[in-house]
Amino acid sequence: MPSRTPVRPGPRLPLVVTSDNELLDDLLRLAAAGGTEVEVAADPAAARSRWAAAPLVVVGADQAQACLRARLPRRPRVVLVGRSGQTESGWDVAELIGAEHVALLPAAEPWLVDRLGESPLASAAGIGGPARVIAVIGGRGGAGASVLAGGLAVTAARLGLRTLLVDADPLGGGLDLVLGWEQLEGLRWPALTEADGRVDPPALVRALPSRGDLVMLSWDRGDPLALPVEAMAATLDAGRRGRDIVVVDLPRHLDDPAVIALQAADQAFVLVPAELRATAAAARVVAVAGLHCANLSLIVRGPAPGRLKPREVARALDLPLVGTLRPEPGLCRSLERGEAPTADGRGPLASLCQRIIADLTGTVEAGAGAR
Ligand SMILES: Nc1ncnc2c1ncn2[C@@H]1O[C@H](COP(=O)(O)OP(=O)(O)O)[C@@H](O)[C@H]1O
Ligand SMILES: [Mg+2]
Repeated sequence: MPSRTPVRPGPRLPLVVTSDNELLDDLLRLAAAGGTEVEVAADPAAARSRWAAAPLVVVGADQAQACLRARLPRRPRVVLVGRSGQTESGWDVAELIGAEHVALLPAAEPWLVDRLGESPLASAAGIGGPARVIAVIGGRGGAGASVLAGGLAVTAARLGLRTLLVDADPLGGGLDLVLGWEQLEGLRWPALTEADGRVDPPALVRALPSRGDLVMLSWDRGDPLALPVEAMAATLDAGRRGRDIVVVDLPRHLDDPAVIALQAADQAFVLVPAELRATAAAARVVAVAGLHCANLSLIVRGPAPGRLKPREVARALDLPLVGTLRPEPGLCRSLERGEAPTADGRGPLASLCQRIIADLTGTVEAGAGAR
């Protein structure tokens, strides 16, 4: 499936617009403290080509009037920066050039270091704050919900987003097996529930099994256990504070922890095989899930043995259709070998996951549209 989001080359750098050399020296020092380089434009004419794509634009007070006259397009994440005690004239135009903040140096130095140092991907996505939460639920057993949840999380992490994958299905067989992570050391639900949810959020995230930007909370091979709501609440809290994206794989029978995860979700996807009985089962799942999340949408997975069309499933369930998945027999084989879904970034599931993450965060993998 082609990506609807235009492909951008890798992460961009913050853009600084100033010809005040003293101010520039200060800003370069603050950027270095934030661990980033910046692009510099002396005036709006030099800034124009990079204005829209930069994750953050810092306009020096010396160029504020010039930016206004140049009629640069409005965009989010513009900061006007100058020195305390400077003539106030630059500040009047802050709103006119669309600046969200006016930063006065030296007082605002730590704040600017933080802004400049935010992950370019996360800030391009406008998600420097709490993480986005995505929930996935199957319309019937074996729909492929867990594989989709795994694919979304692997894809987000490949894009450089700090991702938490939460396995909220006590009877699902374990997402660690979907990712091939069963040998990885780290905290799993049974140990976390023993702690009664009394774990501070950063410590929780640090204790989880991880690979690169992906951390996961899943099950061990012990006896099934009912999750306390507190453990799920602590996990969602940790994910929202410390990650860019949280993906939750929900059980079809919504227990209390699943309900609070669904309530926390910005977006929930119901995955339904293109079959009549699956659609009937999904109608029940949707009736319950819809009570807890206003933003439910549908993904239909082929094959369609009775030629049921995705649009017909969407109409029957009264849900917006966000995507379809062609049969992908190679995926079953690689899952059996313990290879994580979408790890190679190819195939229908990987394309769909890239599009969903792009739509949610604005983050696009370089070259993703070429696949
Ligand atoms: N996109 C897909 N293409 C082909 N087969 C899939 C796909 N997603 C899942 N499957 C197959 O369906 C099985 C069940 O998937 P799973 O994600 O565990 O379903 P659910 O979580 O909805 O019960 C998997 O073991 C795999 O063989
Ligand atoms: Mg499952």
